Amino acid sequence: MGSKARFTKEILPIILKDRKPGQWYVEPFAGGMNAICEVQGNRIANDIHYHLIQMWRELVGGWIPKKITKEEYSEVRTDQSKYPAYFVGWVGFNCSYSGKWFGGFAGETKTKIGTVRDYQAEAIKNVLKQVSKMKGVIFQNKPYYELELPPNSIVYCDPPYDGTTKYANDFDHNRFWNWVRNISKQGHTVFVSEYNAPADFECVWQKEAKSSLSANGKIGGNKLSVEKLFKFSPTNV
Ligand SMILES: C[S@@+](CC[C@H](N)C(=O)[O-])C[C@H]1O[C@@H](n2cnc3c(N)ncnc32)[C@H](O)[C@@H]1O
Repeated sequence: MGSKARFTKEILPIILKDRKPGQWYVEPFAGGMNAICEVQGNRIANDIHYHLIQMWRELVGGWIPKKITKEEYSEVRTDQSKYPAYFVGWVGFNCSYSGKWFGGFAGETKTKIGTVRDYQAEAIKNVLKQVSKMKGVIFQNKPYYELELPPNSIVYCDPPYDGTTKYANDFDHNRFWNWVRNISKQGHTVFVSEYNAPADFECVWQKEAKSSLSANGKIGGNKLSVEKLFKFSPTNV
């Protein structure tokens, strides 16, 4: 999951600048919920990933996860249908190496300086901290274009990046940008995190950041990328 956690503090004040009391804040690609947990008031968190949304629903409903063993991890991975979806979601993301869906068991490891790093304990602590700020969030589990937006919403999109190897084949970026144009014209205030955007979008914030993905999406070590935030601006062209 591309996590916006590092930039949330900088971009949220821009996104929320003109928010009116009661105005809905909607995230169509909410993933790890790093931004939405820092927002208050009326909120909708959507993601297409079924197990992920079930996991967040359960967590916000009060479920407290426990650490699991490597054996349990393998069992859940191979026999997913035997377990409740929220639990598969938890194991698949939060007990996995770098939060990649069943990307390998994350347990305790010795660091170079001889201390022990307990990845699952860290994940539990971090997620419970997020959850404490997410009471009242409405969860949805749809493709972004099927989402019903309350009138005049603020919509923050953090879609799979254009060109990243992981999703490159199954995300239609042209369709996405057209959808943003359409909902902007309907009166929603829409922001998009991306490296690049079509010419009728204006960059309202940018920052150089170290990323394991280069600006063209290729895996390339710690390359410098420019993270950007865009807004539809038809007068731009
Ligand atoms: C870059 S991540 C979002 C990260 C998020 N901002 C965070 O704080 O962790 C992109 C998310 O888009 C979701 N996604 C991919 N295609 C989608 C679609 N068509 N509709 C809705 N969500 C989709 C993925 O499941 C993934 O969680």
